[in-house]
Amino acid sequence: MENLFRLVDQDQEMFQPKWTLVNGPIIVGAGPSGLAAAACLKEQGVPCVVVERADCIASLWQKRTYDRLKLHLPKQFCQLPKLPFPEDYPEYPTKRQFIEYLESYAKHFGINPKFNECVQSARYDETSGFWRVKTSGSNKTEFEYICRWLIVATGENAESVMPDIEGLSEFGGEVIHACDYKSGEKFKGKKVLVVGCGNSGMEVSLDLCNHNASPSMVVRSSVHVLPREILGKSTFELAVLMMKWLPLWVVDKLMLILAWLVLGNTEKYGVKRPSTGPLELKNTRGKTPVLDIGALEKIRSGDINVVPGIKRFSRGQVELVNGEKLDMDSVVLATGYRSNVPSWLQEGELFAKNGYPDGWKGKGGVYAAGFSKRGLSGASSDAMRIAQDIGNAWKEENKQLKKRSIARHRRCISLSHL
Ligand SMILES: Cc1cc2nc3c(=O)[nH]c(=O)nc-3n(C[C@H](O)[C@H](O)[C@H](O)COP(=O)(O)OP(=O)(O)OC[C@H]3O[C@@H](n4cnc5c(N)ncnc54)[C@H](O)[C@@H]3O)c2cc1C
Ligand SMILES: NC(=O)c1ccc[n+]([C@@H]2O[C@H](COP(=O)([O-])OP(=O)(O)OC[C@H]3O[C@@H](n4cnc5c(N)ncnc54)[C@H](OP(=O)(O)O)[C@@H]3O)[C@@H](O)[C@H]2O)c1
Repeated sequence: MENLFRLVDQDQEMFQPKWTLVNGPIIVGAGPSGLAAAACLKEQGVPCVVVERADCIASLWQKRTYDRLKLHLPKQFCQLPKLPFPEDYPEYPTKRQFIEYLESYAKHFGINPKFNECVQSARYDETSGFWRVKTSGSNKTEFEYICRWLIVATGENAESVMPDIEGLSEFGGEVIHACDYKSGEKFKGKKVLVVGCGNSGMEVSLDLCNHNASPSMVVRSSVHVLPREILGKSTFELAVLMMKWLPLWVVDKLMLILAWLVLGNTEKYGVKRPSTGPLELKNTRGKTPVLDIGALEKIRSGDINVVPGIKRFSRGQVELVNGEKLDMDSVVLATGYRSNVPSWLQEGELFAKNGYPDGWKGKGGVYAAGFSKRGLSGASSDAMRIAQDIGNAWKEENKQLKKRSIARHRRCISLSHL
């Protein structure tokens, strides 16, 4: 009897379909960009399928960010289309609040992603005009989706960047990437080297201080640090406002004057500014300025020790480019993230080799959502544009189909009268 059941189970597995034709687009990634695109498509009356490699929505926020994280920009710049944040949310929602908002967003629009399905490849079949998207599940099951449109929403931060630094494998102490850092609690009393001084490096260093650890932060080149607020007004909002009237270079100059008035000369503490202004640098090289929420104060007081680039690691020690050697207990690599698109998308026009697209729309019905280097507000505007574009094509195709089926119906009627 037991064997019979086993046979039936095997048979069911054998006869499970290995592919499906998707009515509408497939969205890869259930982060804010994927959810926003799905919601906007719904508004256009276009069904879609969302596939996600993790077992939850917004996995970056749920699994790969530290506890004290808050949105750095005011909430009106971070909400997704068609559903604002709850009114009682603070100006800068916490990570938990943001996740709760995203959960209710998915529920509100009836978005049910297919979890635990990682896209392994996607290629456009010129002959049929369809995309073939292959996924593999947690139990190594493979599946293929065939669809007219492909929306890439896997994010600018899909994989963590792990630098190859001489001797790191011999260091001996704990080495983690910032995506695995939760809180400074377990580092109490320890000497921690934080590699990198972007928003992650600065905030991890601040958190370590607040938990009585001793962080040293590596600043190997230069970085723009701006206050999060100037005279109670969000610096980002101020920049957006100024950009309406003034050219970018003037706004950059004003930003730097204001930053100097509020924060003083950061170079005095080892935090050099790039020669290009903060907005121009963001536009040209995608490098985000740090919005300071307290780290600079700790740098000034000496609680965060700023150090130059790393030469090599040895057991329990780091040697810096200036020859100084420091004893360390642990290392946090706040060395950033990268896109993973080149590893699975077989397409050579929209996406460059570095995994970032040139625009939001490519040939053959491929779209990029959330790659405009403008954070959550960029994700929202991409989603609206993409949904509008696919919505138009969808309506047009349906009109054609309707015309054809009416014509066929008429032919049938006239034939039946013969
Ligand atoms: C620590 C941290 C803090 C941040 N804070 C802010 C902030 O305050 N404001 C702001 O605007 N931006 C912030 N960002 C930038 C952040 O990337 C965006 O806010 C937002 O998460 C981008 O959404 P997304 O959907 O484009 O990408 P993600 O949130 O990264 O979502 C992409 C999804 O795609 C999935 N995926 C990836 N590859 C595959 C695959 N092959 N198959 C299936 N699924 C896949 C991932 O699992 C993920 O769930 C922060 C980033 C970090 C790292
Ligand atoms: N609350 C928030 O809003 C918040 C918080 C955290 C992060 N974020 C966002 O998340 C994204 C990623 O930020 P991030 O700070 O993780 O990454 P990031 O901005 O890319 O910064 C990476 C840092 O690591 C340094 N680095 C890389 N390799 C190194 C090496 N081998 N040795 C020394 N330094 C090295 C870089 O220096 P170089 O500049 O010299 O290359 C840079 O300082 C950004 O968009 C950021 O705004 C937002």
